[in-house]
Amino acid sequence: MLEEKRYFSETAEETRLLGRDFGNTLSPGTLICFRGDLGAGKTTFIQGMLAVLGARPPFVSPTFILMKEYDLDTPTANGIRRVYHADAYRMERAEDFEKIGFTEWCADPEGIVLLEWPERIEALLSNTRIDITLSLKTGSDTHREIRIDKK
Ligand SMILES: Nc1ncnc2c1ncn2[C@@H]1O[C@H](COP(=O)(O)OP(=O)(O)O)[C@@H](O)[C@H]1O
Ligand SMILES: [Mg+2]
Repeated sequence: MLEEKRYFSETAEETRLLGRDFGNTLSPGTLICFRGDLGAGKTTFIQGMLAVLGARPPFVSPTFILMKEYDLDTPTANGIRRVYHADAYRMERAEDFEKIGFTEWCADPEGIVLLEWPERIEALLSNTRIDITLSLKTGSDTHREIRIDKK
């Protein structure tokens, strides 16, 4: 099944709200890849998702720590217990990301993986995934287009 949705956001708060709505639709065992330039709003969208999933703040960007795991105090109704928020921006070789556990996170049947900069490790990505692409709109600092592709 191929599905595409497109949204527009005018503020960071609106992007967080879109993240909340999207976060409510997820099943355990899903990989979600976030594409888009630095500052496009990937982490902002993810902050909304983490909030609605009931993860405990702070919701930091994992650019330097590579992955932050959130163990939910209360599993979601459909059985998500863990969220792996990963960022491959600093990865030069996909194998290095595999070494720190990427394949295991994706194989967790009670987890979801939120991955920023999937371009860095394209070879490791399964075909069954959701791609979310954020882009800046020309002529504005705050307008974003957000496209969700489900494969
Ligand atoms: N509509 C918008 N959606 C998301 N972020 C926005 C928007 N407008 C302005 N911003 C700002 O842009 C920055 C996005 O940063 P971040 O989410 O960390 O981006 P990324 O993770 O893609 O590098 C934040 O400072 C945020 O406040
Ligand atoms: Mg980020």
